[in-house]
Amino acid sequence: MANATPSLDEAIIIVGAGVFGLSTAFALQQRGYTNITVLDRDLPPVRDGSSTDISRIVRSDYVDPFYSRLATEAIETWKSSSVFKPHYYPSGFMLASEAVADPYLEKNKETLRGQNQKYREFNDLAALKANIPGESLRDVKYGYMNLNAGWADAAGATRALAIRLSELGVSFITGPRGTLRSLIVDGKTKKISGVNVVQGPPIHASKVIMATGAWTTRYLDDLDYHIIGSAQPVGFIQLTAEEGKRLANMPVAINVTSGVFVFPPYPGNNMLKVAYHGHGFEVKASLESGESRQSPFSAPKRDSNNAASTFLPEDADQYLRSGLRQLIPSLADRPWVKGRLCWYTETPTGDFIADYHHSVNGLFIATGGSGHGFKFLPVLGKYIADCFEGKADPEVKKKWKLPSPSIGGKAIMVNDGSRRGPPRRTLGEEEQLKARL
Ligand SMILES: Cc1cc2nc3c(=O)[nH]c(=O)nc-3n(C[C@H](O)[C@H](O)[C@H](O)COP(=O)(O)OP(=O)(O)OC[C@H]3O[C@@H](n4cnc5c(N)ncnc54)[C@H](O)[C@@H]3O)c2cc1C
Ligand SMILES: *[C@@H]1O[C@H](CO)[C@@H](O)[C@H](O)[C@H]1NC(C)=O
Ligand SMILES: *[C@@H]1O[C@H](CO)[C@@H](O)[C@H](O)[C@H]1NC(C)=O
Repeated sequence: MANATPSLDEAIIIVGAGVFGLSTAFALQQRGYTNITVLDRDLPPVRDGSSTDISRIVRSDYVDPFYSRLATEAIETWKSSSVFKPHYYPSGFMLASEAVADPYLEKNKETLRGQNQKYREFNDLAALKANIPGESLRDVKYGYMNLNAGWADAAGATRALAIRLSELGVSFITGPRGTLRSLIVDGKTKKISGVNVVQGPPIHASKVIMATGAWTTRYLDDLDYHIIGSAQPVGFIQLTAEEGKRLANMPVAINVTSGVFVFPPYPGNNMLKVAYHGHGFEVKASLESGESRQSPFSAPKRDSNNAASTFLPEDADQYLRSGLRQLIPSLADRPWVKGRLCWYTETPTGDFIADYHHSVNGLFIATGGSGHGFKFLPVLGKYIADCFEGKADPEVKKKWKLPSPSIGGKAIMVNDGSRRGPPRRTLGEEEQLKARL
């Protein structure tokens, strides 16, 4: 499908104010586009979006050298940019394993070596203890530490970028007026001319960028073959000030054998976040007003707050709990003050999507974070904008291409070996009610 090169004064709507939408808006604004409007269901940081809450890992440890390079570039910006730096914590990232030669760890190290990135190996507990204070992470056997890594305050960074964009002249419309109901596409020319929203008249534009994360298949059922939403469990524990102090200098730590990871306590409130990079849960989503999907799908709700519930499915709760018990035994029995199901937008390979739609002219898709998109916030938009302008590097273009729908089938999670824990399952009716999804 031929999409004309966008012109700087044409009206561009970006639907979604998460990492993908905001980062793209930033890059386009920097390139001189003058009529950018970002729509969202809520003000960024969107309370039930995937780009919020207290933390996200920022690491260049990847099996795929492409993402490792991109992450290294992002980390440089996290460390230097006035917008992002206040929200970056260079704690280091520790990857621990129960197996001497865990294939995922070995491949990560190979990638790092290939790019002359440094890491510190440890093969015994004493060496590890020299790196990590206190009694944390007691049972670690093998692994390594990457010191050029850490975590970002997700809500803080997203908010800061949205504010910056607003200062730069990017428009934001949020709430029902900013909530897309459907795309306006000419039946004959297949050209997009704007979006219908939940409240008020349509909003017009000649380019629409869908950065709607896990919601995307709600509006584009013809992408089912390549995207699926999965809800991922996260638990929060309130530490005392004394515990917070004791763990303050710990790195972000992942047990790659279980996939469970823990962040350092959040400065200020000593909240500890525990999660695992797993296969997640699907839901049976239902249609909302003005929607017309046919087949069953898994996505968050459009018109209500998907973060209203603090419910965690029993198996997820137990998995997090036992992972925490192994990592930080002294906190094993502390209750969650809050649970959260956070959405991944999965693609079959874990690669992002930054490509024009195969049949609607002017419609561009920017999503597919697959559980690892946040760290790229400072640089992602540049590469997406290159795809949007049709001048991306062949490698980027190929990686983030939307494959032809003729491949058919349903998105299945194939990944780089980083996912652990129980297989993906669909929440039961009662669980879904409790999760309010
Ligand atoms: C539990 C969890 C842990 C993670 N950990 C990490 C990590 O450690 N490191 C890392 O790099 N990444 C991590 N990620 C991944 C990262 O957070 C995501 O890849 C990234 O936030 C996705 O951004 P997005 O813009 O695609 O989605 P979102 O932030 O969800 O943005 C989509 C937006 O679209 C809006 N929207 C939807 N429908 C409509 C509509 N009809 N009208 C208007 N707006 C609409 C939504 O309100 C939402 O704000 C994690 C994700 C989760 C869930
Ligand atoms: C932006 O585009 C919209 C829709 O085409 C148009 O109504 C508006 O006047 C444009 N704004 C500017 C500043 O060009
Ligand atoms: C890592 O996970 C494995 C598998 O669940 C477990 O046996 C081990 O005790 C864990 N180690 C740490 C340090 O968490």
